[in-house]
Amino acid sequence: MAPAGFTLTEGASLLHRNTLRVDARAAWLAEIHRAAAIPALLADPALRGKPPLLLGEGSNVLFADDFDGLIVTMKTRGVEVLSEEADAVRIRVAAGEHWDDLVRWTLAHGFPGLENLILIPGSVGAAPMQNIGAYGVEAGERIESVDAFDLRVHREVRFDNGQCEFGYRDSVFKRHPDRWLITAVTLRLPRTDAPRVEYAGLREELERMGVTNPAPIHVADAVVNLRTRKLPDPAMIGNAGSFFKNPVVTASRVARLRGEYPQLPCWRTDGGSKLSAAWLIETCGFKGLRYGDAGISNRHALVLVNHGHASGAELWALAQRVRQGVRERFDIGLEPEPRIIGGGSA
Ligand code: EPU
Repeated sequence: MAPAGFTLTEGASLLHRNTLRVDARAAWLAEIHRAAAIPALLADPALRGKPPLLLGEGSNVLFADDFDGLIVTMKTRGVEVLSEEADAVRIRVAAGEHWDDLVRWTLAHGFPGLENLILIPGSVGAAPMQNIGAYGVEAGERIESVDAFDLRVHREVRFDNGQCEFGYRDSVFKRHPDRWLITAVTLRLPRTDAPRVEYAGLREELERMGVTNPAPIHVADAVVNLRTRKLPDPAMIGNAGSFFKNPVVTASRVARLRGEYPQLPCWRTDGGSKLSAAWLIETCGFKGLRYGDAGISNRHALVLVNHGHASGAELWALAQRVRQGVRERFDIGLEPEPRIIGGGSA
């Protein structure tokens, strides 16, 4: 490990630092191995005035351009059980841990609560950022607090759950990108909750497996089955999971759309009616579409894929085309789920 607690590289390749496998470059890249080293890194004269960009394992980012600033990545490791109470277990996890390793660790230790979130790529520090979620559970439901370093005023800060302002693929960290470098996440895993199986696809998979009274491990197995079947593996083909958020619209909007598309998939949520972006994209005929090496997965219409050497600009151009097609046909604007760097963004 670097004695300074961090390593600094000038002109770093990002090819193996983003799961879309875009061959972009960063002017500077810092990897932090000890959270206590953050102030020393920020004091480095070479970095003065360089805008920071906080990156986890790059599983939710599209580099549409090179980045002419400082990319900061937490590499810290460690999982600590803070307390085992009658109703909950509290665990503090360093930001650099792999999320999926953490989920498997909790299951192996008999601490349920994260099983629906198995196999999600990325780091623990990135989980609160976009409030990762799958199969009926969001990370924000399990997060007690988030420790971060405020890059604006250079001090440590702790956010309790409410201060994280979690929403659907959203948080205070996402709305103020690059301000708070997340250093650790404290989870509170309830001992009492029955496994959450309300997500229709999950229930069907458990039935298919012949499981009638599911334990957390069965839910984990079912989610692994679903994800492996439906989502392309980033180790095999470049992708960043869902590329667009599922749009939330009003009930009257749904009623009008249903007139023309009776089979329109739709779920009620607190904020309105959530539509399936994958269905909208597939209905436009974009599933499996390919321009050069940039494509839409033929397994899942919500996943943008890099078949080989697509540039970030090519992938972003294809995403814009898909957006435009959905807007023209349904008058619905799709919002990208991953962070877009450069390329005129938004
Ligand atoms: N569908 C299609 N075509 C497709 C795929 C799906 O029409 O090619 C329709 C089907 O009607 C299906 C419905 O979309 O029933 C929902 O599909 P799925 O269960 O795969 O979920 P999703 O809404 O497309 C969301 C998350 C995923 C998460 C799953 C499971 C978002 C943006 N995506 O996808 O998260 O794994 O639910 O909970 O909310 C991610 O964020 O990267 C991600 C993969």
